Amino acid sequence: MSETQNEQILDQQNGVVFGTSSAARINDNLQTPNSNKRDLEEDHLRNEKNKLTKLDAPNYNSSVTKIDPDFIDFKTRLLRHINQTLPYEETKVFSYLTETRQEVSRILKQSIIQKESHSAIMVGPRNSYKSFLINNELRYLSKEHSDQFIVVRLNGLIHSEQTAIKSIALQLELELKRLNQDELTPTDDSVDVSTGSLTEVFEKVLKLLDATKTHANKDGSVSAKVSVIFVFDEIDTFAGPVRQTLLYNLFDMVEHSVVPVCIIGTTTKLSISEFLEKRVRSRFSQRVIYVPEPNDLDDFVIATGESLSPMVPRTSDGEIVYAKKWNSIVETLLKDESSPLFLEVHKNYETFKSQTVLKNSFIPLVGECSNFEELQDAITTCKQITDYGINQYQNDITAMVQTLSDLELVILIAAARTILKSRDESTNFNITYVEYSSIIKSLNARIPSTNNLNSTTDKILDNLVKLWSKEDVKNVWETLQEFKFLTEKGAMGLRESSLAVFYASNYLIQTSTIPFDLRTYNMQVTLHDLRGIVSKSSMFYPWTQL
Ligand SMILES: Nc1ncnc2c1ncn2[C@@H]1O[C@H](COP(=O)(O)OP(=O)(O)O)[C@@H](O)[C@H]1O
Ligand SMILES: [Mg+2]
Repeated sequence: MSETQNEQILDQQNGVVFGTSSAARINDNLQTPNSNKRDLEEDHLRNEKNKLTKLDAPNYNSSVTKIDPDFIDFKTRLLRHINQTLPYEETKVFSYLTETRQEVSRILKQSIIQKESHSAIMVGPRNSYKSFLINNELRYLSKEHSDQFIVVRLNGLIHSEQTAIKSIALQLELELKRLNQDELTPTDDSVDVSTGSLTEVFEKVLKLLDATKTHANKDGSVSAKVSVIFVFDEIDTFAGPVRQTLLYNLFDMVEHSVVPVCIIGTTTKLSISEFLEKRVRSRFSQRVIYVPEPNDLDDFVIATGESLSPMVPRTSDGEIVYAKKWNSIVETLLKDESSPLFLEVHKNYETFKSQTVLKNSFIPLVGECSNFEELQDAITTCKQITDYGINQYQNDITAMVQTLSDLELVILIAAARTILKSRDESTNFNITYVEYSSIIKSLNARIPSTNNLNSTTDKILDNLVKLWSKEDVKNVWETLQEFKFLTEKGAMGLRESSLAVFYASNYLIQTSTIPFDLRTYNMQVTLHDLRGIVSKSSMFYPWTQL
């Protein structure tokens, strides 16, 4: 036997051999005639393996036993509850929204069950549960009346007038197909629905709807008419002062269609009915539903409690125990005004006043826990919620201004100055650059120059602030746009007057031809704001007022 083989055997007897190298060595040894040795080595390897599994096994088992399936069920339920994705019966609607919910429910029931035509617009800030309330009611109604209505969804941020009409035709077609599964749908009618002018298309849509009213149920009885529910998100985008053809046609349908039609719009604009054209307004039911916000801290705390405590399930006993325990923990924490949870809720109420922010901070807190004790600990200390909150503060405009470089800051200040001086609160790159260079020049004039002192020597100590060239500053200008400090003028939402629309639409047509330097911008931060944000020690602080 060679020396190396001897060494290997020694190695293995000492228990140093692992992994692939050992396999290779076994192969080596297979070639040796002495099979006893091979047996010995295999025994040894087996022993090693046993040792390893013995070491690992207890750890593995103990970590498995800690995970309790009931807890996992409970955690999933809690997360779904926080996300409001539980089935209808188990979904809680915040109590401050009860009246709104009833109103939405009434309108939808009247349209779907009593076959009346209605229209309403829900007004409320973003994330104020407008869509949630509508969808929740539709979910409820579709359980028993799914063959009684069709939902057509439109969104002002996605659709233009032309695509909206196409989308209506398409959605109707699909829904009708769903309703008359076994019957042949009049395809030749529906194929070309979306062609032609807006009014023509609407006529065709109405015809299509009329045809549905006689459709027969599976059991042979002729069912009542099918209601059409239009859920129209961001309805204000179609209420511009130009021509509100789509809205006119839709609301006209509510008045004149044989088929019951219900339009529920949502918007964030409080004064929505003022924006509707006269002929549209006269067809609109004037039913505007204002989605409330929690009135005071008490309401807000109650809502938090509701969003944190799911209904006690009727499933396994273990889960019920957890749910009850959890709900009582949340209740006591929220009652105690010095508990970290209450303080966090209070802080949120004073700052964001947003259940959404709060909800988003609960999700990782719950998600990371692997047993009930951890969960209890997490909600009692609320450390994660505090950390989450701190991260949220970083996103505001103050924090963003503080991250700007000196050059970006001075351009921002220059732009804010030109906006104050201008008549229509807008600025462009050219004016801003002129302002910027004048700031730098007057700043440099104040810095005592070393030139005069050293005029005899060739060395000139340059301690002046550099005036960057126009080309270089363009880059900065674009950065400021990216940070949303500057918004291009044509990109604003609803216009105040028809004159503003005229300018904006002209502007949009021209943007492609307007040179970079002359494009007009509005600003999201004023000079006054900047005076509060820019630190007093900054060399540009004096320019934060005119
Ligand atoms: N798909 C979703 N999953 C989880 N949460 C959602 C979802 N959609 C919306 N939400 C949350 O539900 C709440 C209400 O949203 P929504 O009803 O869409 O508001 P809006 O009033 O803007 O229509 C918000 O807190 C939002 O973050
Ligand atoms: Mg919405």
